[in-house]
Amino acid sequence: MSDNINEPWGNTVLVEFDEHRIAWVRFNRPDKRNAMNPTLNREMFATLDHLEDDDRCAVVVLTGSDDAFSAGMDLKEYFRETDGKPRSVQHRVRGEGTNWQYRKLLNYAKPTIAMVNGWCFGGAFVPLVSCDLAIASEDATFGLSEVNWGVTPGNLVTRALAETIPTRDAMFYIMTGQHFDGKRASEMRLVNEAVPADQLRARTIELALQLTSLSQWVVRGAKMGFRHSRLMSWEAAEDYLYAKHDQAILFDTDAREQGMTQFLDDKTYRPGLGTYATTAE
Ligand code: COA
Repeated sequence: MSDNINEPWGNTVLVEFDEHRIAWVRFNRPDKRNAMNPTLNREMFATLDHLEDDDRCAVVVLTGSDDAFSAGMDLKEYFRETDGKPRSVQHRVRGEGTNWQYRKLLNYAKPTIAMVNGWCFGGAFVPLVSCDLAIASEDATFGLSEVNWGVTPGNLVTRALAETIPTRDAMFYIMTGQHFDGKRASEMRLVNEAVPADQLRARTIELALQLTSLSQWVVRGAKMGFRHSRLMSWEAAEDYLYAKHDQAILFDTDAREQGMTQFLDDKTYRPGLGTYATTAE
């Protein structure tokens, strides 16, 4: 555990803060290729929960220690050791995984970026897809290996794929278990982009800074608006999206006014030319 008893990480999850207010959150079981066991799932939930309310963190980057992002669910601790246990135990263990892997991340208060630095298998696809954005090393290896050892993709992996990549690609990789690299992940839009390994961290910082330069209430409203409105009727979406719009203005009165003034009065800001307004609080 961390030295500070209020900080729930330091064992299977590591957190580092940097001067950009990026919290680098690492799966930290390198000797098990960062496979997610029940302990990690609990620690990760508590960590993410804590960081939502920690001012040292404006954006979360989820990545892995050493050469793996995560080798998926821990086959021994998550599956074999819960086989034969009461259904209630299995239910709790599964819930501890899904609590953070999609439920927490999909609704996360701050921007999240998955930085895929290496092996990414099976269950790891769920937090990968649940992060708002994703960048991979070109040489990272992805795989839905489940069919190779006699099970269907577990957890919400299949649902996560349906959310991101085209049906033909999803069916191919789910049914064959064949591996693919970061470049292919980017082609299929499983990740936003793939970059050479030596540029992965720098590119992630660049993207994170773009997000932190903006009003956090606006970024939050914009991402939640997209996530939720796509499941609504147009009528419900209209009501909800205008409510998010008004909420962002209410919570950060300056951001819109500043952008308008920079564009309409000062003529210092041209979003169409790729410049960014500086509206962060
Ligand atoms: N669950 C449990 N343990 C895992 C694991 C997983 N998903 N992935 C790796 N490990 C463990 C190995 O059992 C091994 O443990 P040991 O040292 O006690 O024997 C250790 O991590 C190192 O793994 P190893 O296979 O020796 O490393 P590698 O670098 O040669 O290969 C992988 C890395 C990721 C290619 C390989 O470990 C692998 O295929 N893992 C399974 C991935 C998978 O199918 N995940 C889907 C689960 S939902």
